[in-house]
Amino acid sequence: MMPTDVAAAGPLTLRTWRPEDATGLAEAIAASRTHLAPWMGFANAPARTPAEHAARFGEWEQDRRAAGDGIYGIFLDGAPVGSCGLHRRLGPGALEIGYWVHVGYLRRGIASTAAALLTDTAFGLEGITVVEIHHDAANLASAAIPRRLGFSRVGELTGPRTAPGERGLEWQWRMTREQWPERRPADLRVRPDAGSG
Ligand SMILES: CC(C)(COP(=O)(O)OP(=O)(O)OC[C@H]1O[C@@H](n2cnc3c(N)ncnc32)[C@H](O)[C@@H]1OP(=O)(O)O)[C@@H](O)C(=O)NCCC(=O)NCCS
Repeated sequence: MMPTDVAAAGPLTLRTWRPEDATGLAEAIAASRTHLAPWMGFANAPARTPAEHAARFGEWEQDRRAAGDGIYGIFLDGAPVGSCGLHRRLGPGALEIGYWVHVGYLRRGIASTAAALLTDTAFGLEGITVVEIHHDAANLASAAIPRRLGFSRVGELTGPRTAPGERGLEWQWRMTREQWPERRPADLRVRPDAGSG
């Protein structure tokens, strides 16, 4: 089973979503809608209310407890700044990482640090030997994350476009359990906001 808490990195915490996070998540998505819309299907659907988010947290928790996916809020000094997950959709022995970051917190190392923490977590689970990151070929910001973490690009798949910025060509990046200790960047950290003084 996936854990509820992923190891922290400085001010960054990854943990499963709780009912009290629902308003913060709704606000983060509302603020980020234009930034997310090209790439994330949910950002093009009607906004969920906090109560609807809280209900989904319950469904995610049930799924996690049933040996399903792990969906984690990304918190910076306790405030929600994105979401990420470890997904079982690749089949036995492999997990796929997904992520998005609040528009107000970009280019500070949040997605790359979160993805590294998820990779650590994945390889801490019995039987997981492969971690992958998939993204649309047009999503260059997303491509930078597996590249930064030392994943290898192993292929591409055609598929349906699920958001308007996509080309419908999915790039696949892979890390193996053996590669990760030598490839994991030593200098990952969340940088302070350049404008925060
Ligand atoms: C992709 C995304 C998660 C990146 O989040 P982030 O926290 O800004 O990423 P990081 O700060 O960890 O970036 C790490 C490196 O990636 C590269 N990078 C990140 N965003 C980039 C961009 N917009 N353009 C070019 N390179 C980018 C940079 O090399 C960056 O390092 P640097 O800032 O030191 O140069 C974020 O832009 C996002 O939420 N996008 C919309 C949702 C999405 O596409 N999710 C993925 C779907 S597959």
